[in-house]
Amino acid sequence: MYYPDELVEEIREKNDIVDVIGSFVGLKRSGNSYTCCCPFHNEKTPSFHVSKTKQIYHCFGCGVGGNVVTFLMQYENYTFSEALKYLADRARVALPEEEMSPEKKKTENRKEQLREINRSAAAYFHYILTKTERGSRGRDYFKEKRGLTEETIASFGLGFADVYSDDLYKYLKSKGYRDDLMRDSGLVNFSEKYGAQDIFWNRVMVPITDIGGKVIAFGGRVLGDAKPKYLNTKETDIFNKRRNLFAMNIAKRSRRRGIILCEGYMDVISMHQAGFDNAVASLGTAFTEEQALLIKRYTGEVYLAYDSDAAGRSATKKAIDILKNADMVQRVIDMRPYKDPDEFIKALGAEEFEQRIRDAKPGLIFEAESLAEEHDQTDPEGRAAFISHIARLLKAIPDIVRRNSYMVTLSNKYHIDMNFLKNAVDSTVLVENNGENSGGQDVFRSGAGQGVSEPSLLDSRAPSEGGRVVTGTDKPESENERYLLTWMVNKPELFKKLEDIISIKDFLDENVRTVAEYLYEQYEKNGSISPAAIIDKFDDLEKQQIVAKIMNTEIDLEVDSEQEHRALIDIVRKVKLNSINAQIKNAPDANTMMELIKSKNSLSRLEGI
Ligand code: CTP
Ligand code: MN
Repeated sequence: MYYPDELVEEIREKNDIVDVIGSFVGLKRSGNSYTCCCPFHNEKTPSFHVSKTKQIYHCFGCGVGGNVVTFLMQYENYTFSEALKYLADRARVALPEEEMSPEKKKTENRKEQLREINRSAAAYFHYILTKTERGSRGRDYFKEKRGLTEETIASFGLGFADVYSDDLYKYLKSKGYRDDLMRDSGLVNFSEKYGAQDIFWNRVMVPITDIGGKVIAFGGRVLGDAKPKYLNTKETDIFNKRRNLFAMNIAKRSRRRGIILCEGYMDVISMHQAGFDNAVASLGTAFTEEQALLIKRYTGEVYLAYDSDAAGRSATKKAIDILKNADMVQRVIDMRPYKDPDEFIKALGAEEFEQRIRDAKPGLIFEAESLAEEHDQTDPEGRAAFISHIARLLKAIPDIVRRNSYMVTLSNKYHIDMNFLKNAVDSTVLVENNGENSGGQDVFRSGAGQGVSEPSLLDSRAPSEGGRVVTGTDKPESENERYLLTWMVNKPELFKKLEDIISIKDFLDENVRTVAEYLYEQYEKNGSISPAAIIDKFDDLEKQQIVAKIMNTEIDLEVDSEQEHRALIDIVRKVKLNSINAQIKNAPDANTMMELIKSKNSLSRLEGI
């Protein structure tokens, strides 16, 4: 962060979150907060909440959240400093220019120059393609061979690199770019023997842009059958193949449902020309986790439109796994008998493709169908292996309703008796399941002997759904901690009231505890708290969302003060009990353990708070 905390805070305070978010999306007042349909995922009923008092937002549907700065980073894809600049402008606060460290400034500057040289190169290639005689071979290729319109050529800024080996070099030189910058941009190679040589020549050129639409690299295709068919810019300081997606800068604004993931640049260009402006492609490498998260900023649903050959199917399976891990919905578009979206659209047109989108199968069904093809169903061994695989796929679905629903579908589709399949699923143990959730109970039982009643906590332990990944704030214990902290945020006087009972160390969930630390610090310093300021402390967006969730959990109570009081006592007790249990588990000796058990019994005196 390049700006002092106080300045960041001042800028934030001068930009009311409801006004700012309200200028991008239509907010409706509802009780204490403002709501709308979440701009970050598709939904029909509003679950996006903006709180005026807390100055934070949170979507109960997809989990995004943060403060006003976070919102701009997510919605406009600004960096932190860009978001801050925007808000400073809006509130007419002067931002010092010199806050960047000289080191940082130098690299930022260098990146800026690399983007500029890429932009110049793209303009040059485009000029050669569209305005010169020597570009005619490229024009013919795009227009005649690939069926692209002039409009498409213009909107993707397509270009042509001529046959000369230093054509671009000379142009860039004439524009005043230095040799070292040309080298670092991956556009020109320098050697003692040959001097300066263009990397791309005799190819049609596809500029690759970042999410903000700035050219950061190129993919160049040969006009005929020479090898390699595509040549891509090597990784540079501004071009990270794992983190960027071709055409994502356009697709992010699409009004279509989800994102369509294709294998190639030409597929994407074809798709956009046919009206599917939500198509993107990875950059000559396999689809990555980072790319999934990039998509997830805009939508949680991905349609896979990879080639229908064996390589494409295998890539589809890998992409499905990555999307599953990112908790995103996957569907697979069947393009058969055509090879890829480009060929499909040329042969059958956009309307047919639209139908294939509607018919797209859930990733899991695609996986099951592949398994069915791989195993000989008439052979008992083959059939058994097939069913075991299916059981594993089912077992890995954390949501019980979805799991059952797929169980019914697959049981019918492959004529597997429902009870038989259910048994197979129940007896399946996923490798990820390390059986962690039994330790605490055992230690507790043997250590405490008799007489300690331990009602709700043990009951609410993670259910025996093997393989379910219970992450951070998902656990019931963490949820209790989160509730308690939310309560304290809503009623800061609780910090004082609970001071003898609850302290920071009672929050066991790592994320909750970090937030608690900041809140306690604020309260001690100012006697009040400011949730939005805490969000600034976290650099990464994922963390900010967790924090916003912690502070924005709704406490849904019928406001009868007696009931509210009881509920509060209950939650304090649960958190404290859980904390003591954890300490008992780690107690160094018997005495400490006895002390802890005693303190546990004294929890009955909580009524006084
Ligand atoms: N690719 C690559 N290098 C190659 C071949 C392919 O980087 N030598 C990448 C490119 O990003 C390309 C994608 O893989 O867009 C898909 O390749 P392929 O299926 O071979 O090409 P198509 O998209 O069918 O290309 P075209 O229609 O232009 O023949
Ligand atoms: Mn193709």
